Formats: sequence, C-alpha cells, structure tokens
Amino acid sequence: MGQREVGIGIVGYGMMARAHSYAYAAAPVMRTLPVRPRLRLISGRDEAKVSEAAAAYGVEGWVTDWQELVQRPEVDIVDICTPPGTHADIANAAIAAGKAVICEKPLAVTYAQASGMAQSARSRGVLNAVDFNYRRLPAVSLMKRMVDEGAVGTVRLWRGTWLSDEFVNPATPFDWRFDRSMGATTIADLGSHLIDMALWMVGGVREACAQSETFVRSRNDPRAGSSIAVTVDDASSALLTFDGGARGVLEMARTAVRRPCDFTVEINGDAGTLVFDYPRLNELRYGEGADDPSMYGMRTIRAEHPTHPYTRDWWPIGQGVGYGASFVNHLGDLLERWPQGPWEPDFTQGAAVQAVCEMIERAAVEKRWVALAEVTAS
Ligand SMILES: NC(=O)c1ccc[n+]([C@@H]2O[C@H](COP(=O)([O-])OP(=O)(O)OC[C@H]3O[C@@H](n4cnc5c(N)ncnc54)[C@H](O)[C@@H]3O)[C@@H](O)[C@H]2O)c1
Repeated sequence: MGQREVGIGIVGYGMMARAHSYAYAAAPVMRTLPVRPRLRLISGRDEAKVSEAAAAYGVEGWVTDWQELVQRPEVDIVDICTPPGTHADIANAAIAAGKAVICEKPLAVTYAQASGMAQSARSRGVLNAVDFNYRRLPAVSLMKRMVDEGAVGTVRLWRGTWLSDEFVNPATPFDWRFDRSMGATTIADLGSHLIDMALWMVGGVREACAQSETFVRSRNDPRAGSSIAVTVDDASSALLTFDGGARGVLEMARTAVRRPCDFTVEINGDAGTLVFDYPRLNELRYGEGADDPSMYGMRTIRAEHPTHPYTRDWWPIGQGVGYGASFVNHLGDLLERWPQGPWEPDFTQGAAVQAVCEMIERAAVEKRWVALAEVTAS
C-alpha cells in the first residue's frame, strides 16, 4: 500500500505559488507526515505562463480558470496565491465546493469580506488556514512560547516595525499592489503579519489611533500608457491599546530606502524584554530583570537547539534556517493535521487581524482614536 495522498490545487503562479510548491515538496523530506501532498493542478489566466510554472514547480496539470480548479475532484485543498482582492471569491467558491482552503495573507481587502469567509468556512465545516508563515520561524515560535511561559512577566509594551523599499522609486510602474481594492493597504499587506503576531502573543487589541501617507500619488500604468492614481498608503503608523492593558506601537512602510524586508518585534514585560529582528532570523535577544546586575544587558539565544520549536525537523545546530523554512513548517503543520484538523491560524483569526487593519485605516482617515467594536459591529 502506498502512502495516503492529498490533492493540492494552487491558484496563481507568482512568487507565493513558487514558495508554496517548494514547501509542499520539502515538507515530506524534512519530517514524517501522515499524508503525501500531491501537486495536482495550478491555475492562471495566461496559458503560456501557467504551463511554464506547472513544469517548473512540479505540478501535474494546469488550467486557465480557477473556477475549474476549485471543482476538480482530484483537488482536496485549494491553496490561494493570488492578490488579496481575489481571495474572497475564490475561497467562497472553494468552501461551497466542500474543499479545504489555504489562503495567502491578508485574508481579504475588507473586514466584511474576511468575516464572511470565516463564517462560510465555519458553516460548511471545511478546514481553513491563513498564511501567516512568519509565526512558524523557530525564533518567532520560541518568542511566543517564552511569553506564554512568563519569561517577560506581564506584557506592558509591544512594538512592531516592518520596513521595505519596494515603493521607493516613483518610476516603479502601477500594478495590483498600488490598487487598494486588489492589493489592500500597506497596513494590511505588511502590517497583517505584525498584527497576527501581536494578537497571537499578547492578545486582542481594543483601540487605535494612526496616520498614513502616500508619497508617490500616481504611477505610470504601462498597459494604459498613462498615469493612474495610487489608492494605497506608502507608509502608516499606529498606537494600539490591547485588551489586557498593554500598549503597542506599529509602523509599516514600503518607502524605506535600503530596507529590503526588515521587520522587528519587541515585547517589554514587567520582568523582561524579548526582541526578534528578521535580518538575524535564527536569534532572539532576551533580557531578564532578575539577571546578575554585573552582567547587565541582553543575551542572544540561538533558536536552533533541539528543545526549540521546529528545530528537530531541520539541520544540525549552527546551520540555521531561512524564509523558505517558514512555509515548510507552516504547510507541514497543516498536512500533519489532515484531514481532521484543527488548522491554525484559521480564517476566524485572519478576520480578527483584518478588523485591526481596518480600525487602523479608519483611525488614519478620521484622525481620531477608533475602537475595534466600531469595525466589528458594522
Ligand atoms: N506570506 C508571505 O510571506 C507573502 C509574501 C509575498 C506575498 N504574499 C501574498 O501572496 C499573495 C500573492 O502575492 P505574490 O507575491 O505571489 O504575487 P505575484 O504578483 O507574484 O503573483 C500573483 C498571481 O496572481 C495572479 N493574478 C493577478 N491578478 C489576478 C486576478 N485579478 N485574478 C486571478 N489571478 C490574478 C497573477 O497572474 C499571478 O499568478 C498576496 O496576497 C500577497 O499579499 C505573501
């Protein structure tokens, strides 16, 4: 008897489709799984490009219509790797067809869409997950575990920053990332990862004030041959109040020169401090108030020891892991729980993140403190 298989259908053939295909291939190599993912189908509107992607990513077949992929009987899991503005239609169709769904972040472009997707998945009883893959970096998972175990005591302050330079150059042409209805805001694009980590490690957020700016307000659209208005923020920042009383500061920008994809998360509790800095993704910095005062400062933890999360599935201590490992760990966790679940983070958690994004967006537009309840009640 061969190993049990689960059929995967990937929607989209861009960067995330490549990352997910890589992870489906690597996960069974790195750990023992109860099922073998079989890359059955990939969809994309451009026949030449999608067929090329199928060959490159090791997918057995391709179609030019995602609706066909969703209906095909050999597809058990629909894995959505298209822009955020397409997620709701594709996920809702997959859920209606009784398929399990894995969706890239942000879950949607509005809270209404995201909560509708979560509701549909719950009522149909299908497994569902959002790709907040950074949770699955060993050092980030270790940070969460240490917070849960009381390493920092009661959390007082949380700080998250995500800096990239992808929108710096005004000559960068218009594409879906500059269109709010398709790409969502920078708050949702970059901030959703940080907000997910905040909700996961610290708990719910109840109110926010914020500011946003679009520095380059129009860009050349090569297809139209003319300039078109940018409808997303280049950069935003927010102050947050957590349900438990902790205070937060959040900043996300795609206009930070020479910052490629730099994010940091810091937690200050009444007993200690933890810092994660993505350019040093295999490390955590930790300072404990009870440490010997003559050794004042922070120590560096190498999050590679066999006692640390995920490290048993990877290379010997000292070798480290990279971005790709976050997808291997994430999809590996989901496959390990196929088909009974539960999966997490799920659409309900994705919708909770979307509510915080929308609260921040509203606070920036209306220039006032906005309560989460104003978003979730509407
Ligand atoms: N988790 C992460 O680390 C991470 C990193 C980058 C992107 N993302 C997310 O992944 C998703 C895809 O991003 P990407 O970087 O792979 O984008 P991409 O531009 O590389 O690929 C997008 C794919 O979607 C297709 N597409 C574009 N518009 C479409 C439409 N209207 N209908 C159907 N298909 C359409 C494109 O043809 C392409 O196949 C987004 O939600 C993005 O936020 C996540």
